[in-house]
Amino acid sequence: RDHFLSVTDLNAQTARELLDLADGFVELNQGSAKSLDLMAGRTVVNLFFENSTRTSASFEIAARRLGADVISLSPRASSVAKGETLIDTAATLNAMKPDILVVRHSASGAADLLSQKVGCAVVNAGDGRHEHPTQALLDLLTLKREFGDVGGLTVAICGDVAHSRVARSNVALLSMMGARVRLVGPPTLVPGDADRWGCEVFHDMRQGLEGCDVVMMLRLQLERMQGALVPSTREYYRFWGLDREKLKVAAPGVRVMHPGPMNRGVEIDSDIADDPVISLIQTQVEMGVSARMAVLAGLSLRREGAGL
Ligand code: CP
Repeated sequence: RDHFLSVTDLNAQTARELLDLADGFVELNQGSAKSLDLMAGRTVVNLFFENSTRTSASFEIAARRLGADVISLSPRASSVAKGETLIDTAATLNAMKPDILVVRHSASGAADLLSQKVGCAVVNAGDGRHEHPTQALLDLLTLKREFGDVGGLTVAICGDVAHSRVARSNVALLSMMGARVRLVGPPTLVPGDADRWGCEVFHDMRQGLEGCDVVMMLRLQLERMQGALVPSTREYYRFWGLDREKLKVAAPGVRVMHPGPMNRGVEIDSDIADDPVISLIQTQVEMGVSARMAVLAGLSLRREGAGL
């Protein structure tokens, strides 16, 4: 399909092709002259109905570095604030003939719905608790550059898995690429059907982290917990917050990831988050630009019938 809505739009082969393309962009982004004209004359619209720092900024930078024209809209500054619906907003933008619409929305399935209503390519920048496919791609790029190959790595995804689109996309993509994925968290924050995701499930940090090569921490996604019993942050940190003591049982050379935004002292200790060797958190942000350049360039080339 000419959209990127889910990691299931990829297979291991196309994921590797996207990673190779992204890897090439990393060198460009680390140099002094960062611009290309691969998307000259193309228009990218960022439409974010939920807050974002990393995803929104990196899509904008990625599109600009590829030579595209970009506009970024937030609902507070658009006619959504006057009651316009998601579909009407998309139809309005579609009438201006953009080439790619990058959408974040609180409803699972929102990006898929829009893709059926517009003539341009749609990229899912996070839909509810469903998927965040470009996050999974940038995480995979980060791991590829750190470890060479994710095949055979044991990755523990820890914390609020139940409300996490990052977890769902990462489980699917990491498993597709041959990693062993564990889910670690309190029973209230790991979905009841998680054993059907093809992962081992642990309700104890020590057991879940034992021998892991990678620990991926998630924040408590309070915005998706309306009406639920929310744990106190102090109690949560005691049992589920990652610190040096809990990390001792992981494999030698363990690396720690977090998609951000982080809540320091809740799901992760600053001592770990800021460790220049163990923490890959800033590398993840850096890789976000290259991964999103690969997605935008890939969709552009595909629309022009030039592969990917
Ligand atoms: N990881 C992530 O999606 O961060 P933002 O919410 O800042 O975009």
